[in-house]
Amino acid sequence: MADLNELKKNAGILAANKIESGMTVGLGTGSTAAYMVARLGERIQTEGLKIQAVSTSWSTTIQCRQLGIPLMDLGDAEHLDIAIDGADEIDPQKNLIKGRGAAHLLEKIVASMADHYIIIADDGKKVKQLGEKFAVPLEILPNAIASVTYKVHKLGADLQIRMGAPGKDGPVISDSGNLIADAKFGTINDPEKLDSELNKIPGLLGHGLFIGMANKVILATPNGIEEW
Ligand code: A5P
Repeated sequence: MADLNELKKNAGILAANKIESGMTVGLGTGSTAAYMVARLGERIQTEGLKIQAVSTSWSTTIQCRQLGIPLMDLGDAEHLDIAIDGADEIDPQKNLIKGRGAAHLLEKIVASMADHYIIIADDGKKVKQLGEKFAVPLEILPNAIASVTYKVHKLGADLQIRMGAPGKDGPVISDSGNLIADAKFGTINDPEKLDSELNKIPGLLGHGLFIGMANKVILATPNGIEEW
């Protein structure tokens, strides 16, 4: 059986090898994205690759600093050539669930800024329908927690505030200082509709449905890489 980390690494390296000097690059968060960031750092050191990057989380920022990857502040960046990130679920239309690592709000902003948005993953992330395995992560303004919970519940989800990050008591707080919750809708028959319903809820700052955003998926399987 193929090692999961090897699969993630293969996808990450292949995506990082597509980056060319002069590009502005959005860097995702998570274990697969970390392999891509590591390969970019290696190319900067060995090939003199010249890029400007934007990070989607503190964890990616720290990795970039360690590797000498030049970072722009997200607040100063208007547009990116490319963004590369992992995902928790990928359906056949390249719609995604993201946010296991609570970075989905910034990840979606960065994805929206890019001409090309590439998803890297192992083949365990492929699903027929979104919601098969994962709940939809939400980022919620703390003052709106009760009203957002009420509205998301009315859309049919069981919602749980995410608790218990390793090394911290109490709720998980995002890099932007908000609460994270997971909304269990079960399998999602109409992801476009749910996306637009969630987008209308005041105080719900971001959610992990990424609909119609990904241009390409690089999926590492035990039999090699699939790109579609
Ligand atoms: C971060 O919040 C997430 O959106 C990650 O990009 C996603 O969970 C994929 O992470 P892994 O590559 O670690 O599975």
